[in-house]
This record gives sequence, structure tokens and C-alpha cells, in this order.
Amino acid sequence: MLSFFGRLLSLSLSLSLHLACSLIDLTVSGLSQNIKQLFALVCETLKYAGILKEIIGSTKLLKQEKKLQLSVAKVLVYDLLFGKGVKCGGNWKAIITKHRSQLKSALARLKVKRKVSRNEDLIVSKASGSQGCRVPRYVRVNLLKTSTNDVIDYFRRDGFIYRGRATSVNDLKHLKGKEFICDLHLPELLVFPSTIDLHQHFLYTAGHIILQDKASCLPAHLLNPPQGSHVIDACAAPGNKTSHLAAILRNKGKLFAFDLDIQRLATMGTLLLRAGVTCHQLANEDFLLVASSDPKYQDVRHLLLDPSCSGSGIVSRLKQVTEDEESASPERLQALSSFQRKALCHALSFPRVQRVVYSTCSVHQEENEEVVREVLQQHRDSFRLVNLMPSWPYRGLDTFPEGSLCLRASPDQTLTNGFFVAMFERWSGEKTTEQTKSPSQAKASLSAVDTVGMDGNSEASPSTAPTVKRKRKKKKKKLQPSA
Ligand SMILES: C[S@@+](CC[C@H](N)C(=O)[O-])C[C@H]1O[C@@H](n2cnc3c(N)ncnc32)[C@H](O)[C@@H]1O
Repeated sequence: MLSFFGRLLSLSLSLSLHLACSLIDLTVSGLSQNIKQLFALVCETLKYAGILKEIIGSTKLLKQEKKLQLSVAKVLVYDLLFGKGVKCGGNWKAIITKHRSQLKSALARLKVKRKVSRNEDLIVSKASGSQGCRVPRYVRVNLLKTSTNDVIDYFRRDGFIYRGRATSVNDLKHLKGKEFICDLHLPELLVFPSTIDLHQHFLYTAGHIILQDKASCLPAHLLNPPQGSHVIDACAAPGNKTSHLAAILRNKGKLFAFDLDIQRLATMGTLLLRAGVTCHQLANEDFLLVASSDPKYQDVRHLLLDPSCSGSGIVSRLKQVTEDEESASPERLQALSSFQRKALCHALSFPRVQRVVYSTCSVHQEENEEVVREVLQQHRDSFRLVNLMPSWPYRGLDTFPEGSLCLRASPDQTLTNGFFVAMFERWSGEKTTEQTKSPSQAKASLSAVDTVGMDGNSEASPSTAPTVKRKRKKKKKKLQPSA
């Protein structure tokens, strides 16, 4: 995710610098309108990025115009061939119009080659049939503000049709129109057809529901810290998992949330306020530099680490058309996994931490099983992996003996974004017979965490989880849909 927005931002910035004053007239009075135009232009250009690259390559435009950069060339060629015909003046227009007939011929040849007659058909094969369309809209009920039953009632009174609780992933596939269903794994998760947009819905704007992919709900759900406990969210912004943790804690306890990015933290502050989170302490700090020996963290027993990753698991129409070769280059994956390993080792260094959940929205083994395998190897004496949700259909790759104790998620297998989760658990102290077994022998008998309901109705609790009684839910005021 981060990588996609990073690239969008960097392209926007590069475009802003090079083009803003010429391609779009950025006057102060029309600033917001023009920023919208600029954004639309960037998005449209990104949509055709692959085609533009091909055309620019086949015409050798950059060789002929040495000062022209690829990102700027893409926008100019987009505007010439697919947009409004290069409205800017000055050098840019002169440069690109010199090549107009060459570029138009290249476009015509490409259409013949692809056997399409319309420009938009050039991108159809890539953008349509998007996996994103197969991932339903997941709605997490914010138990800090309301209850699942009240939200179900509200939606029903608002014209939605409730289909009860799903019994298989298949049940989530065939929702249509205004139907919705309760998820089979997470009791506070409601599932709607992917076409439903709830961003303007009262329940969302008032913070009663959070629009969060099911896979992204797994880390906090599985960590499941008891009320009153001290928890670290190591790479927290924009805070979806932090607000989920706060809901599980019922705002009782302490939630230390760190992030390096001040802007993302600012957004997070607003989101947490809307979600009614009060038990958090936000810090704009590098988690790698947070002193695990600081007495402030001496009671931290639960830690969630969801570090920066390639974001390769996120499915969205726009991302699919912007993905390029660099996003999964070996160098980039190596840099990311090196940070992920360091962060995970640091997480395990907190003296009283019992459980550490590691998650990424990446599909790459380098960021998932490889990171877990290496870190586990270094900490075998004090940590082991928990067998997560045995009923979950898609497991971690079997590239090391405990790989399948971890979870994977994907649009095809679990109807979610691509995701990975592993949970480390501290060994309980002196050596037991369990610990003298080989990893594969131990695998069969490790503690298992299945669907542990946030309302406290654990189906199977981890054998070593601290036992803190959960209080019964307070009766919340009933919500009424307006009109
Ligand atoms: C995948 S995002 C986290 C998403 C978040 N857990 C959520 O659910 O909303 C990774 C975050 O890690 C932050 N980050 C990267 N390096 C960091 C570091 N060394 N210390 C703290 N945060 C870091 C990034 O700024 C980014 O916000």
C-alpha cells in the first residue's frame, strides 16, 4: 500500500515540479480545482502507463529528446494521444508536437497488434476482471461505540437484507445488491457485496463501523490482548489495527503506538478520535530505537508488528495498472525484509513480551516465511510459533517445518487482500518435554489459536494466554437510521 501511494506521490511531485505551472495553471485562486485536475491527470496517466511506456519505447522518444524524463514524457504523450491534446504552451508543447505523427502511428500500430479499435480497450485486459472486484466489502463493527447486533439492526432498518452468519467462505461470494452477512471467522465483521460504498454512511462517519479488509483484522484478533493489558503497536499508522486492539481492550489498559511518519500519525490521531479510542499513547518514533529496557514498557506482554512492506497483496484496480517491475525488485525486497527482520528481533527483545504478532500485506516469501524462519532460528530457545486458526484454509508456505502454523490470505482462497500473519509465543520457562522435541514433532502439539470472539466467547484459547476475565458488554444506546 505504502509503496503504491509512495509512487503515486513521487510521480505527482515530479509532475508538479515539472508540469504544474505549464500543463495546469496552478493559480492560488484555483488551487484546489487544479490540484484535482492534476490528480486526475496523474491517475489517468498511470492507468495507461504500460501502453505509454511501450509507445515511448517504440518511437525512441527519449533518445531523440535527451532532456525529457520518462514520467514527464508519459504525461505529455497521454495528453496528446488520449487526453485533451496538450493544452500547455512553451517548450513542452513544442517538443511533443514535433513527434505527433510518429506517436499517433505507434498508437495505431499497437491497436492493430492488440486487435482493438478503441483506446480504452488497450487497458481493458489489465484492469477488468480485477481481483479487487472479487473481494467483498468488509465492515468491522467498532465495539467501543456500539454492538454487532445494533449495527445489524440499523442496516436492516436502512433497507439492507441480513443473511445471518456465514458458514463457509463460499457464502461470502454470492452476496448481491443490499445483502449482507456476518463473517464466519470474526463475529464483529459484516460482509457486503464489493459494489457497496459505505464511505458516506452515517455509521462510518460517526465511527460506529470501520471499513477494514478481513485479512487486516486478523493480527489484532489473533493477538487478542486481555482487558487491562499493556500492548505495543510498533508500526501503527494509519491505525486500523490500533483501533481494533483498543476495541479488544475495551479501552482498558495501555496501547503504545509508534510510527516514523508524522503525517500518517496525524491522520491516525483523527481516526482514533472518531473511533472513540482513549487508551493509546502515540509517539513519532523509530520503533527500532525504542528502548525495550525502558521501565515504561515493563508490563508489555503483547506486541503487534505490521511493518512497512511491498504491499504486493493489496488488490485494487488502480494498483494493478500502476504496478511496475521495480515494486518487487530483488533489491527492494531485500531492503524491506532486512528492516522487517530487525523490527521482529527488536519486538522479541521486550523483556516480558509473551506474544508477538508479525503481519504484512505482501505475498512475497522473502517478507513472510523467510523473515519468520530466520528470526525463529535465532530465538528458538525462548520463542515458538503458535498454530494460528487451524480452520483457516490458506496456510503459510511449507518452506520450513513450522511454515504452515502461519496464515496466508488471498483473493482466491480467502476472499481478502493478500496477507500474511505469524504469531510468536514465549516458551513458558524451564525446559519441558515439549521443548526437547524437534520442530516438526512439536508442531503437532503447539498451542492453537482459533476464532476467539471479541465478545469473549473463545472457541479455543491459546494454552499459555494470560487468563484475565472479560467483562460483559455494557448495554449501548440503540442506533436509529435517519429516515
Ligand atoms: C503497513 S504500515 C502500518 C499499517 C497499520 N498497522 C494499520 O493497520 O493501519 C507500516 C507503517 O510503518 C511505519 N514505519 C516504517 N518504519 C518504521 C520504524 N522504523 N518505526 C516505526 N514505524 C515505522 C510506516 O510509516 C507505516 O506507517
